[in-house]
Amino acid sequence: MGLSTIILAAGQGTRMRSDLPKVLQPLAGRPLLGHVLDCAAVLGADDVCVVYGHGGEAVRGEFAGHEVRWTLQAEQLGTGHAVQQAMPGTPDDNQVLVLFGDVPLLTPGTCRRLVEETPAGDVAVLTVDLDDPTGYGRIIREGTSVMRIVEEKDASTDEKAVREINTGVLVCPAKKLRAWLDDLGNDNAQGEYYLTDVIAMAVADGVTVHGVKADTWTEVMGINDKKQLAEAERALQSRRVDELMQQGVGFADPARVDIRGTLTCGRDVFIDVNAVFEGDVELGDGVTIESNNLVRNSKLGAQTVVHSNSHIEGATTGTACEIGPFARLRPGAELADNVKVGNFVEVKKSTIADGSKVNHLTYIGDSEIGKDVNVGAGTITCNYDGANKHKTTIGDGAFIGSGVELVAPVSIGPGSTVGAGSTISKDVDDHQLVFERGRRKTVPGWTRPQKKGAK
Ligand code: UD1
Ligand code: CA
Repeated sequence: MGLSTIILAAGQGTRMRSDLPKVLQPLAGRPLLGHVLDCAAVLGADDVCVVYGHGGEAVRGEFAGHEVRWTLQAEQLGTGHAVQQAMPGTPDDNQVLVLFGDVPLLTPGTCRRLVEETPAGDVAVLTVDLDDPTGYGRIIREGTSVMRIVEEKDASTDEKAVREINTGVLVCPAKKLRAWLDDLGNDNAQGEYYLTDVIAMAVADGVTVHGVKADTWTEVMGINDKKQLAEAERALQSRRVDELMQQGVGFADPARVDIRGTLTCGRDVFIDVNAVFEGDVELGDGVTIESNNLVRNSKLGAQTVVHSNSHIEGATTGTACEIGPFARLRPGAELADNVKVGNFVEVKKSTIADGSKVNHLTYIGDSEIGKDVNVGAGTITCNYDGANKHKTTIGDGAFIGSGVELVAPVSIGPGSTVGAGSTISKDVDDHQLVFERGRRKTVPGWTRPQKKGAK
């Protein structure tokens, strides 16, 4: 049987108090709806439909690359009405799984359990027991069977005492769901078409409704405001860190690390406090990330050490590189093996070959640096003439003294030495010593200007 996933994402999210639509609020750097779409993708649903409304085109635009059936719910008349909008394109023979765009922590495992444990033709709802069920729809059972769901605002005192609540996630055969939705009314406290009323209709038609309990509350928590968003962020982060620790990754403090994307680690990786990983990051065997580092879309080779307070984006390193403290690797920084990039050094769109060192206060941009090169403190590749960028090439074994300006386009031959303080604007051959700096001028007996009015 095919699976259709219908994701409800039309609600306004007033309590976020934000111009950004609720389902676009970021959780671990990805919009809430993105997490739900990821879950649907892992499930391998052959039809994914998103019911959208508030935030309209912004929501669609954010997921332009996804194969999704978008259905507009122009007016938000309730969860039942929302699902109904998606039914015209839903194949009759499919099983429908209803998910919520603001319930981002639900795992594919739980969804699969719900779908697989529901015999063909039956209905299932995902529930959870809460100490304080206030505000949620209550699951009303007779024996083990679920008979109906009653919303908080429509519930009697007895019903309000029920602690098993509706998470909103539901499995239902498409053909039957279509028929029940067509019969929904809105004669209730909120004047809405409730999806939850489908349960009593199913029971009336002799269909068995299963109530399946979620393992944890966090997995099914709905996000309505910034406080819940922050809670969900912590829950998701701790889930990710737990997974990595099981794989053998060491953390100084599992609560003080953030992974906003995919972090892949080899053996014996150690991550100190306040490390933030964004996008796709790969850390090879034995990599150490010291405290206060940002690493974004980068691949760091085995045994590489990133000292504190570095900012690394779009970079790659080979084996046993040393970066920082206070280093900045920008997109296109490609370090080979045993390369050192020290404090207050910025590297952009440049390759640095094996064993080279750029240790202090330096800018390397649009450059190709050979093996075993030493770049002295305060050296700058002047890559920009105000209009265009130009390339600097430094050959194997060259030694660049401190405070050198390399005015690109320029190349320094292998084995050459550039004297400190030089401004090099013409190519240098191999194995030479070159100076390019002004001669010393002296003015004997010179006195400094005096401050006016001073005695
Ligand atoms: C709903 C359930 C309630 C459950 C709770 C779990 C109903 C009637 N009630 O209540 O039993 O305990 O979720 O969080 O289903 N949406 C639309 N279009 C609409 C209305 C809602 O797309 O017209 C979307 C919202 O964006 C949201 C989801 O459906 O993602 C739930 O809507 P919401 O209004 O928050 O439902 P609750 O009152 O919380
Ligand atoms: Ca809600």
